[in-house]
Amino acid sequence: KTKIAVLISGRGSNMQAIIQAAKSESYPAEIVVVVSNNPDAAGLEYAREAGIETEVVDHREFETREEFEQALDAVLKLYDTRIVCLAGFMRLLTPWFTERWRDLLLNIHPSLLPAFKGLHTHERALEAGVRIHGCTVHYVRPEMDDGPIIGQAAVPVLPDDTPDTLATRVVTAEHKLYRQCIALACSGKARVAGSRVRLQVREFGAELLM
Ligand code: GAR
Repeated sequence: KTKIAVLISGRGSNMQAIIQAAKSESYPAEIVVVVSNNPDAAGLEYAREAGIETEVVDHREFETREEFEQALDAVLKLYDTRIVCLAGFMRLLTPWFTERWRDLLLNIHPSLLPAFKGLHTHERALEAGVRIHGCTVHYVRPEMDDGPIIGQAAVPVLPDDTPDTLATRVVTAEHKLYRQCIALACSGKARVAGSRVRLQVREFGAELLM
């Protein structure tokens, strides 16, 4: 199994979905540590109760982003981490970190990239009047919410949606998408080729169109 770290800042529902998936013998990833930049992240408690190692690297305790990221990097190395999964990790990472973990760093973003990079994606999707919305898992590049796409899941936008109802539908799709994309990355079936990911699977994604 590939040793992965999951980085969170808050609720950690994607982390929970990954923990559940990783319980299966056949899942190709093993979570060696959950790291949060926020000591009060609710997800930390869930991880501890699931018997997973947790670490806090509080960004407020460091003078610079680089020092914070060096501490984060040291923790990841300590656990012999091979792949890092950002799961609602709300700190921007500098090129120093993203290049160090190039092609080994995954992110989930709550929109169909390249649409709606950044924050408040559900409000902006409603504002734009799109009929289809969703989520994306991609390898991280220095530019925010950019990088080779591993997978996407789409959900409909319904006439009475509010940002909250839409967010709930998207996050349910995120849980399925992320565990599948992590499995692909950890089993070498989603390799970066130039600016894209070459998938070594016959069928992927159809079941994610919900
Ligand atoms: C998720 O919707 C994730 O896609 C988003 O934050 C939420 C975290 O929820 N990530 C970003 O916006 C990254 N910029 P969770 O803590 O319950 O997994």
